[in-house]
Amino acid sequence: MTAFLNAYERHVQALAAQGLRRELPDTGQRWWADFSSNDYLGLSRHPRVIDAAHAALDRYGTGATGSRLLSGNLDLYEAFEARIAADKHAESALIFGAGYQANATVLAALVNAKVLGAEPLVFADRLNHASLHHAFRLTGVRQLRFRHADLAHLRALLEQHAHGDQPKFIVAESVFGMDGDALDVPALAALAREHGALLYLDEAHATGVLGERGYGLTAAPGARVDVAMGTFSKALGGSGAYIACPRAIKDYLVNTCTGFIYSTALSPVVVAAMQAAWTLLPTLDAERARLQQMAADLRARLQARGFDTGASSTHIVPVILGDEARALRARDALRARGINVSAVRPPTVPPHTARLRLALNTGHTPAHLDALVEALASV
Ligand SMILES: Cc1ncc(COP(=O)(O)O)c(C=O)c1O
Repeated sequence: MTAFLNAYERHVQALAAQGLRRELPDTGQRWWADFSSNDYLGLSRHPRVIDAAHAALDRYGTGATGSRLLSGNLDLYEAFEARIAADKHAESALIFGAGYQANATVLAALVNAKVLGAEPLVFADRLNHASLHHAFRLTGVRQLRFRHADLAHLRALLEQHAHGDQPKFIVAESVFGMDGDALDVPALAALAREHGALLYLDEAHATGVLGERGYGLTAAPGARVDVAMGTFSKALGGSGAYIACPRAIKDYLVNTCTGFIYSTALSPVVVAAMQAAWTLLPTLDAERARLQQMAADLRARLQARGFDTGASSTHIVPVILGDEARALRARDALRARGINVSAVRPPTVPPHTARLRLALNTGHTPAHLDALVEALASV
């Protein structure tokens, strides 16, 4: 056992030497302003969401008691899935226990060479989230990485591979969680159609915040994609995830997706709360507009002081500092002033692009933003 422990300890020490060691934050800490939370609309504390959770707890108890295929299939899941499908203009939807689980296991199921009749080709944005890579590492399917958000590069790669008969997948995020930029979804959807590729888009950071009635960038008619995935863990204030897709894909996943078949259904308490949050989304246009206005103002003020906010165009604003140690120092200096921010380092982001990730939410006030900008300028 000692040899194992020594090996693991050496690995963590090596990470620490490079400024890459991760540590769980102190749970007792209360921040004056928090720019690290993904509760973009404050729905984790919305009274209607909390009431729905209480009612479900009384009606169903704490857990689903089994996989959806065994004892865990409740009316609640079916009703919520029908609602998600309608709002995403999709034929059907399927709920998962977490976003990571959905991406990793749905994609692993979809890229099955035996089922498709040939080894598929996956065209993936270079900055895709770890859960999207996981599926391909798991299955050994090769990814062709296109430059981040560069549809011309994607087109060139698709054209290079236009003559084979391999099935093609395009996999990306609609809003990138560490950069806060958004893809041109209608253009991407058109490109996918042109090349007969299946388009899979992760809407984790768009769900609730962007798109028609807050239902993400794939909810608009011209922007329709084949499979839209989204999480309940960010703007909906809870946990879990959904896939919106054609009925044939839902049937296939119910039969083959390990993360659906072999996992206990999401707790009915969470499902009911997330359904209430989802139903609230169309009423939150003013909050969404305010969030985007705050982000635009913040970017302008930071850029005026010489900070690099990358290509951000949403409520997520990176301050790219480059060096890991610099990002950690800036984070700690802000925390010392009661302002919590996340320092994001490789491998979560590419080498030499360590950053502070500022996530705005509707609870932020002008005073919070003033203090943030002043603190950043002085550190
Ligand atoms: C783009 C993206 N996809 C998926 C996930 C995973 O979602 P979850 O936290 O629900 O597992 C995240 C969360 O970090 C994310 O940022």
